[in-house]
Amino acid sequence: MTTLIPQEVANKRYYQDVPDYMTEVYDWAYVNPRKARLLDRKLVVSTLLFGNDQRLMRAYLDAIRPGDKVWQVAHVYGDLVQRAADRAGSAGRFLLTDVTPIQVELAEGKLEGIAQAEVVRADAAGFQLPFTPDLVCSFFLLHEVPEDKKRAIVDNMLAQVPVGGRAMFVDYHGPKPWQPIGWLLKWVNRVLEPFAEALWRKEISAYAEEADRFEWRKRTVFGGVYQIVSAIRQR
Ligand SMILES: C[S@@+](CC[C@H](N)C(=O)[O-])C[C@H]1O[C@@H](n2cnc3c(N)ncnc32)[C@H](O)[C@@H]1O
Repeated sequence: MTTLIPQEVANKRYYQDVPDYMTEVYDWAYVNPRKARLLDRKLVVSTLLFGNDQRLMRAYLDAIRPGDKVWQVAHVYGDLVQRAADRAGSAGRFLLTDVTPIQVELAEGKLEGIAQAEVVRADAAGFQLPFTPDLVCSFFLLHEVPEDKKRAIVDNMLAQVPVGGRAMFVDYHGPKPWQPIGWLLKWVNRVLEPFAEALWRKEISAYAEEADRFEWRKRTVFGGVYQIVSAIRQR
């Protein structure tokens, strides 16, 4: 006789040890396995980023040199993780962390068979890399986490970067007053993304305890809606 396991019970493992902000705010986007599987498409990322997905991804991918050891702190829908692992190449290493079980599962599926890639379930705020990285990258993670978590993630990423090593943050930014998308995003933030607007007012470097050890560069695109920030450790 087959015993049918109720769907909620089967799904419980997807909620184990997931941070509160993820289940309370982002369940529909990143935790619920059925919805996450539906959303994991290039078109979704492209739509959410108003068609800026490729140029934002390119900024990150161009920063990866063949042979680099890379830590990407969280999964991203679409094909970014495979492309980043491919850029690092067989002489490099690509380690992806994510805090939710379904995202780890989705990423493992994409990176299967790429020898230099591995996926670890971990909170980016506390994870210790098993190697010294050339590049660590947060691609649209910071706007989704509360302020204390932003600080902890930025500090943990930077703490692992050696002298000459690089950190990169691609995320939202305060739109210029003339950018009409700003009004739409204000509404989206009120309804869906309560932690995002802090990045409109505060520099990412301001979350870092040891900001002065790094050389920071920032450029914005799409009328200020997005920022691409790099930090190179000087000492
Ligand atoms: C990178 S962000 C959003 C990226 C982009 N909007 C997309 O389309 O996928 C989403 C990911 O961050 C993960 N995440 C949230 N908090 C995290 C944390 N503290 N550590 C690691 N991953 C985290 C979520 O599980 C989710 O997979």
